[in-house]
Amino acid sequence: MTQETPLAGRVALVTGAARRRGIGRGIALVLARSGADVAVNDVAEDEQGAERVREVEALGRRAVFVNADVRDPEAVRRMFDTAEEALGPVDVFVNNAGVCVWQNVREVDREAFDLIMGVNLAGALLCCREAAQRMVRRGRGGRIVIISSVHAQMPFPRMAVYGATKNALRALSDHLALELAPHGITVNHVGPGWVDSDINLASPDLRTQADRQRTLDAIPLHRPAEPEDIGAAVSFLASDAAAYVTGAFLRVDGGFVVGKYTRIAEVAP
Ligand SMILES: NC(=O)c1ccc[n+]([C@@H]2O[C@H](COP(=O)([O-])OP(=O)(O)OC[C@H]3O[C@@H](n4cnc5c(N)ncnc54)[C@H](O)[C@@H]3O)[C@@H](O)[C@H]2O)c1
Repeated sequence: MTQETPLAGRVALVTGAARRRGIGRGIALVLARSGADVAVNDVAEDEQGAERVREVEALGRRAVFVNADVRDPEAVRRMFDTAEEALGPVDVFVNNAGVCVWQNVREVDREAFDLIMGVNLAGALLCCREAAQRMVRRGRGGRIVIISSVHAQMPFPRMAVYGATKNALRALSDHLALELAPHGITVNHVGPGWVDSDINLASPDLRTQADRQRTLDAIPLHRPAEPEDIGAAVSFLASDAAAYVTGAFLRVDGGFVVGKYTRIAEVAP
């Protein structure tokens, strides 16, 4: 382990990490650059998973792709089994898989509700449960990082159900941090702001150039987050430097939340 590779010798598993423009890819690549071997999970086509494996391997680390639906407890168990058989016990679990459907509360249909709750909340519970059981059994501590969102704290039009799941992830993360502290396992959650990934292709607020400019204007650092900005936060939380950090929420949002009133008040340069 060196300063450049603080995660050397560790094994990480990242859910929802196969897509080219996704946050999960950014997390996987930063973890690999930090020295970790990485298991990549997704329900996306195997070809995208294979691409992520090649990218991690090109960084000199070991990698495996596991196609598994995080809503299915049996598939989740198999996902951990496959990752462990290929790479060894998982030291760092990153719960990143997530979905959004934009609907006003008046329009929310049961199918969309079940999908968002299923992936974002039930999936997180199933995966964190499996990770926690295995880490406790092994008795060597561990790191769990849950990808939440600024919308855990910042209400937004047509994102009530999504926001509710992300807010619930705060409770899950905090309770888990308490439960797992005696076992040397830290649990934290990270709140990305706007990342230009596939999840936002269906966002009604990012359709036109003018929409995108409005969003940029509301972000004090005036750019979307890069997936690797989120990866850097995860890598820190997974490292020994964050040994004393548990139950924390780390926003990586270019100031989106603190800047939410900038449309009604000029911020002096
Ligand atoms: N992009 C943003 O602006 C933004 C902002 C805040 C938080 N987030 C969160 O970041 C995480 C990653 O999202 P992203 O922006 O990279 O979008 P994305 O759509 O690229 O990534 C989500 C990934 O989850 C996978 N997935 C969906 N359902 C799954 C399931 N049942 N089992 C396993 N994998 C599944 C998808 O195939 C996809 O690869 C999500 O939790 C999202 O809520 C995104």
